Amino acid sequence: MMHSRDVQPAREPHIPVLLQPLLAAVAPVEGLWLDGTLGAGGYARGLLEAGADRVIGIDRDPLALEMAGWAKPYGDKVRLVQGTFSSLDLLAGEPLDGIVLDLGVSSMQLDLAERGFSFMKDGPLDMRMGQDGPSAADLVNGADETTLADILYTYGEERASRRIAHAIVTARTSDPITTTTRLAEIVARCLPRPKPGQSHPATRSFQAIRIAVNTEFSELAEGLAAAERALRPGGLIAVVTFHSLEDRIVKRFFQLASGQEANANRYAPAKTDTTARFELVTRRAVGPDDAEVAANPRSRSAKLRVARRTAAPPLALDPAEFGVPQITKKGRR
Ligand SMILES: C[S@@+](CC[C@H](N)C(=O)[O-])C[C@H]1O[C@@H](n2cnc3c(N)ncnc32)[C@H](O)[C@@H]1O
Repeated sequence: MMHSRDVQPAREPHIPVLLQPLLAAVAPVEGLWLDGTLGAGGYARGLLEAGADRVIGIDRDPLALEMAGWAKPYGDKVRLVQGTFSSLDLLAGEPLDGIVLDLGVSSMQLDLAERGFSFMKDGPLDMRMGQDGPSAADLVNGADETTLADILYTYGEERASRRIAHAIVTARTSDPITTTTRLAEIVARCLPRPKPGQSHPATRSFQAIRIAVNTEFSELAEGLAAAERALRPGGLIAVVTFHSLEDRIVKRFFQLASGQEANANRYAPAKTDTTARFELVTRRAVGPDDAEVAANPRSRSAKLRVARRTAAPPLALDPAEFGVPQITKKGRR
């Protein structure tokens, strides 16, 4: 096993979301599985307990590997690798029977103020899952106003994107924006005070900046393509998403890759190759039941989709074809 150390989580560990529906949808679990979003290891452990012979666990965050004391009892059945799931086929280096992706940040990352993901905790404006490359502060203080507005609009579906981008650029001229709480205050001042039960006004902006800092949509698009190359015929992929932009990408990818688009519109130009590379296992997205939402409110917006690889050779798709949002000029209002 690579990179494993005995580090115990200091806080409430991450509660795995939709784990039981996922295990039910991919049963019987056997052979070699890859968990591309290891986090606190909830899925990896679930797969091993359900019958996987071995699990390769990938996370871009070194902290996930430092916290992987849980893997020790499994010995050689677990191989841990630091990296991004966009390269999962290369990192695995062998054909896989199954892949799981549980997108977004872990509770572990959110809870650590110093990682800068949460507007609820004062910390440095960081947000880098991999702890490398440009940070949220670099983006917020360096990007031009139009780019900031486009990011907020496209990745956060923030309708006040232009107003917020202008406020950010004005604020940073006197003093660079270096903390989560200062950014949250700047955003909050641009929006109406939330009514009881509504989310914090900075929620959409923080989501957008986090997606941009971690290039989350291109990671997802490349990860799905890498999964197509890595899975054996009959192998399964299960993806859990947390917001509509992510779910739309996964849904469109599975639709296109399962040949479902071929006859969707008889007036559309014929696609060159409609051979199904996947079959849908879940016809519609699976969400949490009431008991799971009550036990773990974070699961509320989660959606699970599962597909099975066919024997057709992999085909590279253009990410724009399956709805990967591009930064557009729509935020200029
Ligand atoms: C929601 S958590 C996964 C939790 C995990 N399923 C569990 O039960 O503990 C997502 C994890 O995926 C990691 N991650 C997100 N995007 C990634 C990527 N592109 N490549 C590798 N890891 C990624 C994050 O660092 C985080 O640790």
